[in-house]
Amino acid sequence: MNLLMIGDVFGDSGRAAIAKLLPGLRQEHAVDFCVVNVENAAGGSGVTPAMARQFLEQGADVMTSGNHIWNRKEIVEYITRENLLLRPANYPTGAPGVGSVTVKAGPRKVAVLNLMGRVFMNPIDCPFRKADEIVPELRRETPIVLVDMHAEATSESVAMGWYLDGRVSAVVGTHRHVQTADERVLPGGTAYITDLGMTGPTEGVIGVDRTIILQRFLTQMPSRFEAAKGPAALHGVVIVVDPETGRASDIRRLRVPA
Ligand SMILES: [Fe+2]
Repeated sequence: MNLLMIGDVFGDSGRAAIAKLLPGLRQEHAVDFCVVNVENAAGGSGVTPAMARQFLEQGADVMTSGNHIWNRKEIVEYITRENLLLRPANYPTGAPGVGSVTVKAGPRKVAVLNLMGRVFMNPIDCPFRKADEIVPELRRETPIVLVDMHAEATSESVAMGWYLDGRVSAVVGTHRHVQTADERVLPGGTAYITDLGMTGPTEGVIGVDRTIILQRFLTQMPSRFEAAKGPAALHGVVIVVDPETGRASDIRRLRVPA
């Protein structure tokens, strides 16, 4: 089974890259299931219900998110009734929406779990203990479990990869917007990459107009972020999984100019 996981869609050019490239990528790699992180789709901050609906039409099966999920207030109502858009599962009890979902993919089922790190990020419940709680529930429904670990610190993502090795099909990182070159299948059969990278503008500073960010570094003055203009690319991975066991046999990086 071929699983496509796409890194953080950022702003207009990220959304345009998905519209242009996702249908072709699904064909080219014979993709059975696709997960897209969409938390920066709306101008680099949050996602709107209309955008989320569009991603589903364009070929995303499940959407994941992270620390920017609440930035567009209209998403709260959407996320409470659409469980194909996940928020991190380790948000405290009472947060709207769900952090995991199991979806049919042809004759199989695929489960997706969204977690968020705590190092250099806002306080949130423990992602490791939350995974212990949810992964067995998901595995009762399907051996194919994909984890999006939305985190700032590389160490926390690497640790999660080892922690869940042999218990899930994949642990992929998001949030940093820079693709890492450490993809591998861990000994227990879990495909791992510290970060998928970003689907968005390539000439900015992790998506934002570089003149704004440079000015901020040079003066330490606050400024309003705007998505960078210019060329864009889609970043992600294709993972091959044995549908009977859920074990991964391959993970390949994708870096496609839009
Ligand atoms: Fe993020």
